[in-house]
This record gives sequence, C-alpha cells and structure tokens, in this order.
Amino acid sequence: MGPPPLWRKGSLPMQSTSNSNRPSGRRSILKNRTVLFGLIAALFLFATGCSKEGQSTWEAFGPVAQKQLDLFNVLLWVMVATFFLVEGVLLYAAIRYRKRPGQPRPPQIHGNTTLEVVLTIIPTILVLALGIWSVFALFEIDKPPGDGPEPMHVNVTAHQWWFEFEYPDAGNGKKIITANDLKIPVDRPITLSLFSDDVIHSFWVPKLAGKLDMVPTHENKMWFQADSDKIDDDLPVTLFGTCAELCGLAHALMRFRVTVMEQTDFDSWAAAYGPPPTNTDKAKQGAQIFAANCTLCHTIDGPDDPALSASRLTGFLTGGDITPVPAPNLTDLRTRNTLAAGIVDLNETTLRQWLQNPEDVKPGNYMSERAVLYQNGSADLTDEEIDALIGYLLDLR
Ligand code: CUA
Repeated sequence: MGPPPLWRKGSLPMQSTSNSNRPSGRRSILKNRTVLFGLIAALFLFATGCSKEGQSTWEAFGPVAQKQLDLFNVLLWVMVATFFLVEGVLLYAAIRYRKRPGQPRPPQIHGNTTLEVVLTIIPTILVLALGIWSVFALFEIDKPPGDGPEPMHVNVTAHQWWFEFEYPDAGNGKKIITANDLKIPVDRPITLSLFSDDVIHSFWVPKLAGKLDMVPTHENKMWFQADSDKIDDDLPVTLFGTCAELCGLAHALMRFRVTVMEQTDFDSWAAAYGPPPTNTDKAKQGAQIFAANCTLCHTIDGPDDPALSASRLTGFLTGGDITPVPAPNLTDLRTRNTLAAGIVDLNETTLRQWLQNPEDVKPGNYMSERAVLYQNGSADLTDEEIDALIGYLLDLR
C-alpha cells in the first residue's frame, strides 16, 4: 500500500481512528508535519522581510558595518558548524546504539576522562578565540583611523518620535540644524554624539553601523563612513535608518534617511541652507501663515535658538493640553526626501495630507495632539491657506 495523499481526510492525528490505517497514517502524519513545518518556516522568513534593498544588515557600505558583518558571519558559521557536528554525533549515537527488538540492552557507560577533557578544551578554545577576536574588533571600530580624512561631526538628538541632526562645523562657521534626513559626504568619517530629549531611543543605520542607544542626560558616541567603492549606484544614495528601541506610541513610525553624497554636493547643500525664499505673493502669504500658526514649535529661519529649544522642551516635559513641544527644524525641508520622520516621501500630496490631518499620516504625533490648529481634528485652515503653506515650505514657483 503506497503512502496516502497529503492532507487526506483522516490522516491528521486527531482523525486517525482506524486500526488498519495506522502504519500509513503515521507516515502521513510525519509528512504533514514536515509540510506544516516548512510552511511555518517559509512564513517566518517571509515575515522577517529579509531584503538587501531596504534596511539590511547583510550589506555593508562602510568599514564599521563591514567589520561587524565579518564578525557576525564568522560567529554564525562557526556556530552552525558546531550545531550540526554536535547534533550529528548525537543522532548517530542515538540511532546506532539504540535497543533493538530481541537483542539485549546496550551496556551503559559512565565516564571517559579523555573524551571529557577533549570536549572541555575544544569549546574553551572556540569561545576564547571568538571572544578575544570580538573584543579586538570592538576596539578597532571604536574610533575612526587617525590617518584618514578629517572626520565630520554630527550631534543627533532623539525626540518622540523624530531625529534632530545638528552639524556644528559643516557650513563654514554656520551652525546647521535639520531633521530626519542626515546628509553625509562620501568617503569621510562621520563622528556622532547621540542624545535624547525624553526617553531611551536607539540610533540604527544597518548598512553603516550597528545600533547604539540614545539615552537622556548621557552622551553616547559612535562613528561610521560610507565608502564609494562599496556603493554600486551613482551618488547620491539614500540609506534607511530607524529607531531600534521601543520608545512609545509612534516608535514604529520613527525612521530617518541617510543621504550619501559627494563632498561638493554636500558643501552646496550646506551653503544653501537657509529659509525658503519669499519672492512670490503666494510664498509671502505662506510665510505669514507659518509665522502665525507654526513658530511656537517649528523654526524655519536657520538653527534653533538654544533658549527657545529649552523652553519648548520644558513645555513638553511639564505637559498641559496646548504647549510648545520640540519639533523638526523646517529651514531646509524643501531639500529632504521624506516627511513625518521617514514615513512617507515628501511631495505636494503628502505634505497636503500632513497639513490637513497629521494623525492620518502618522498616528500618535504631538502636532495633532498639541497644536491649536488641530484641536478639532483636521486643520483650521482653508485649502487656499494650505496651498500657500505648501508653496512656501517646498519653494514651489
Ligand atoms: Cu524612538 Cu523607538
């Protein structure tokens, strides 16, 4: 009698009742389990969304990520080899020396000094070797190499639920503050100081470096670099970043982008950093609407005034229904790729949706909760006023 078809009625354990069916039933149970396990494994892989295109740790664009990937690969394959070796020997012994029907019970053995010594020494050597190598790798990627190009420094502050980037020395003495879109020159070490204004967040650009926590009242430091010879596409290239620490309601919507560009393009961007021009009537109208409704939380004309930032933070921390809160600096919004902390692409349509009702775009954000404009749900602005705001913010002519 051949094996029954898969999923045949009666082949599942609960339904297998007939005695005559038992041997083939057992075989089909095994097969069904194999199929089920395969399906679950496939679903798991599918659900993890593994893809090199987006946010992947399997592709390194710089020395720090490369070192971490090398370390991970060696650890992974040593552990896979150990697993199969140990499990293989275990299975072999269990099958080869099992009790067979009609034969005496195999003799029980206890203690084998040579084997025990060998089985202690090998794992000790493995753990020591991998551990020591890991520690050396940590020191190696701790700081950028001293003989390379001059590093560029960026201060990153995490807020619920967006990232603030400050370039203290990028714009020829002009301080630059931006949000959610980190622009970096290629082939140059970027040193970062990580801070948080509220709860613990975590800064992670998988293709450039591993994650590091952003802790209130404490500075954490890291660095990375994007290497042109590791990036196949033409510059500028956009990489995905995300917050990797559960930090409240909109944690899953706290992302950012890293745009890797040529140094000359970066310098042009830094030189052009400034408020959107008001050279049309529409832009002038937009600027007035912005000044009347948005400047309690947002800055549009250069770096945030530290005193103003401090008062916004105080407003946020002390609460109240309608208080100022730290919000993304919008001076260079028109040069960014995304809106609402990397959730949607930035264009007229998405900016209109955001201005009409931010809650629809990014549930949980503080703008719809705290801003006077949104206390009745959608914006207290006419379509014409929203048009003017969009024209101003994106410098549409
Ligand atoms: Cu910030 Cu999760």
